[in-house]
Amino acid sequence: MSRAERYAMYGVDYHWNWWVSRTEYRQWIGRILSEFPREGSGASVLDVGCGDGVVTSQLDARGFEVYGVDILEGPLEIAAAKVPNATFSAQIPNQIFDYVLINNSLPELKDEPALREAITTCREYSVVTVTEYGFSSYDLQRMFKNCSVELSFEDDDMQIYIVEPQR
Ligand SMILES: C[S@@+](CC[C@H](N)C(=O)[O-])C[C@H]1O[C@@H](n2cnc3c(N)ncnc32)[C@H](O)[C@@H]1O
Repeated sequence: MSRAERYAMYGVDYHWNWWVSRTEYRQWIGRILSEFPREGSGASVLDVGCGDGVVTSQLDARGFEVYGVDILEGPLEIAAAKVPNATFSAQIPNQIFDYVLINNSLPELKDEPALREAITTCREYSVVTVTEYGFSSYDLQRMFKNCSVELSFEDDDMQIYIVEPQR
């Protein structure tokens, strides 16, 4: 099922419904957020494939300056309404961010040059989560050249990689 079909079936705000109704989803998001500093202090985060903005909202609440990108208009409109402080766009901007998050969107975006640019030029590091398809650290190392790749967390449902430009 494509992402568009999934939103059509579950609703454009289905991550928000999960956020309210599913403890395991909140725990999963909490695990991802634990990879970021507790205090955003105005640092910038690019959230690629932000969907309807649940994770974007949590980063915003920590004080990060968040830029959300999603290709689908419906979820992006929900995200913009739910997280008015953040900036949203359908395209990855040509800009250097402190952090990049790509949460569960790597299969669609792995060949996107703007994603590589954002990840390989960010000032701190990127948090890359992988669920449905296995990407090894070797795969990520090949995608994001001149970066170190570290598997930070793994369970049956998810892997979290930290990708950091080598300076
Ligand atoms: C599984 S959802 C994850 C949503 C969000 N990251 C979350 O965890 O709540 C994947 C998202 O990636 C988006 N996406 C797919 N291809 C994209 C592209 N080329 N550029 C930007 N977003 C894309 C989809 O529209 C979808 O909202």
